[in-house]
Amino acid sequence: MIKVLDKNIADKIAAGEVIDRPVSIVKELVENALDAGASSVTIEIRDGGRTYIRVTDNGSGITAEDVEIAFRRHATSKILTENDLDRIETLGFRGEALASICAVSRVELITKTADSKSGRRVVVESSEVLENSATGCPDGTTVTVRDLFFNVPARYKFLASDAAEARRIIDFVSRIALSYPDVRFSMINGKNRVFTTSGKGNILANIINIYGKDIGEGLIPVEKSAGGFTLKAHVSPPDKTLPSRNRQIFCVNGRIIASSVLERALDRAYAERMFKGRFPIAFIFLAMPPEKLDVNIHPTKKQIRFDDNSEVEDFVTEAVREALMGERAVPIVSVQKYDSSAQMNEDSFHYEVKKAVKPEISSEQSKIDIKSILSTIREDKFTESHRQETPDPVPEAVNKPFDFEDLRIIGAVFNTYILAQDDDCFYMIDQHAAHERVFYEKLKDQYNAAEKYSQQLLVPISLAVSSDVTSTEGEWIDKVRSMGYDIDFFGNNTYIVREIPAFMEMSEAEAFLNDLFGALSDKPDLTNYRILDKIITRSCKSAVKGGDVLDESEINALIDQLKACRNPFSCPHGRPTFIKMTLYELERMFKRA
Ligand SMILES: Nc1ncnc2c1ncn2[C@@H]1O[C@H](COP(=O)(O)OP(=O)(O)OP(=O)(O)O)[C@@H](O)[C@H]1O
Ligand SMILES: [Mg+2]
Repeated sequence: MIKVLDKNIADKIAAGEVIDRPVSIVKELVENALDAGASSVTIEIRDGGRTYIRVTDNGSGITAEDVEIAFRRHATSKILTENDLDRIETLGFRGEALASICAVSRVELITKTADSKSGRRVVVESSEVLENSATGCPDGTTVTVRDLFFNVPARYKFLASDAAEARRIIDFVSRIALSYPDVRFSMINGKNRVFTTSGKGNILANIINIYGKDIGEGLIPVEKSAGGFTLKAHVSPPDKTLPSRNRQIFCVNGRIIASSVLERALDRAYAERMFKGRFPIAFIFLAMPPEKLDVNIHPTKKQIRFDDNSEVEDFVTEAVREALMGERAVPIVSVQKYDSSAQMNEDSFHYEVKKAVKPEISSEQSKIDIKSILSTIREDKFTESHRQETPDPVPEAVNKPFDFEDLRIIGAVFNTYILAQDDDCFYMIDQHAAHERVFYEKLKDQYNAAEKYSQQLLVPISLAVSSDVTSTEGEWIDKVRSMGYDIDFFGNNTYIVREIPAFMEMSEAEAFLNDLFGALSDKPDLTNYRILDKIITRSCKSAVKGGDVLDESEINALIDQLKACRNPFSCPHGRPTFIKMTLYELERMFKRA
């Protein structure tokens, strides 16, 4: 039953939505279709939606009595009382979408409920009902919106090119289609069927279907439930990143939203695992108790407010972090090159064999930049020839925890790369990056621990420093002592070190301090935790020596220490410690598979 809301409730709703471009209309119509329980929704647009938008659903339909009321402002069947506002479980609730749309265009609505024998056809132009008559039609609702802004030339002028408006619409429908995997979506742009999802509930299949294989393949599944929260996500391994966040899609209780809380959760989960300025791909679907969030804070509902930001952030961070500790997060060396050069280009996310020895990730990834930009700009990507019906079913990706116990060390090459294997993979481990990771975590632990483990030096080290270092002593000396150093001013721009952290070798301890003092002469702000952390990670790098020949027991000790790390798969700067090649890839290289 559609009712006009009492004024006092209406005033509590963040309304005043402006239909500013075609995508706003598509959004409202699709949301109405989903609220009506549709299992199939078809979206057709022409000329970027400017001249024609049609959304067809097989949902509940609207009764003959209600159909005209639906176009009135504050007319909704979704809430009745003020209390309902605290527990909104539908996408709509303001009762203003149809009213706003029919004010600026020519609308035709055809609808039929399952109970009634015939349907209704209503035509509304500039908010005026021109026709309301019986008609034969299938169950469900079809809304056609023509000539957007024909009566508001000022707004018409601000529309972007048809291609740009179409792209916005396709982007929106892509996202909403992902959030409703059980609904079959068809997106048609002019004469092109852009995509059709299967409606069979396979999110990963939909991601590949909509965004293509280069985005969708190799994603790591994340699943976690706790305290009323359920997260289902697909995120990229840390070596597969993009230069922007435009493939981070957040869906909370079926609503596509922008959220700095979820962005931060991702940043934290990937901390130390990727380079600055790079972003993981992430499709995040979060279900949570509706009373723990407020969707009624912005007319377009694109923003929501969580009652407890850190509860949500911690939950998502934890879930993604756990998934990134699994075996699928280890970068994989792909050998596409051996199949055909054409395919190699299709798959530029993976290392080429040649580059894996000395991974030049940034240059590897600069290829992706161009590709991902092209993929968003070029519309022919969305033509029928590229996107057929979902090749369902895509096998469910599994992500077992990585098991260090299964690793068998084979040896080392170039005094730098440790070789190891388990049952179905061959690993190369960057000895220097691994050392750095171990060194960094031990230093951090020691810094935070109440009890410090130090070793006394037989012969104290004396270190000559610049006057900048002595003059800022108050800012750094306690921090260095917290790491386990016994250090004092010795006069004459010199410091004397009597004890060093227990886990360091003497040369490491000295190199670390020298690097730290070097950084201090640039007068950094040590009270800023992030700056301090950056300086420490840099100093770890110079402290740890690379290229040493390790014997078997040293290699085993290093792997054991790595295993104990919170984040064993990358150095503190985001370079990978592990790279793997699957048995299957090897067999393909030798033309056995
Ligand atoms: N596709 C549809 N199928 C069934 N009922 C519909 C459909 N579209 C609209 N309605 C009915 O018309 C009413 C008004 O729709 P409208 O979109 O204007 O408001 P709303 O969805 O209730 O709130 P909001 O303004 O937040 O979208 C809805 O509450 C619903 O009852
Ligand atoms: Mg609505």
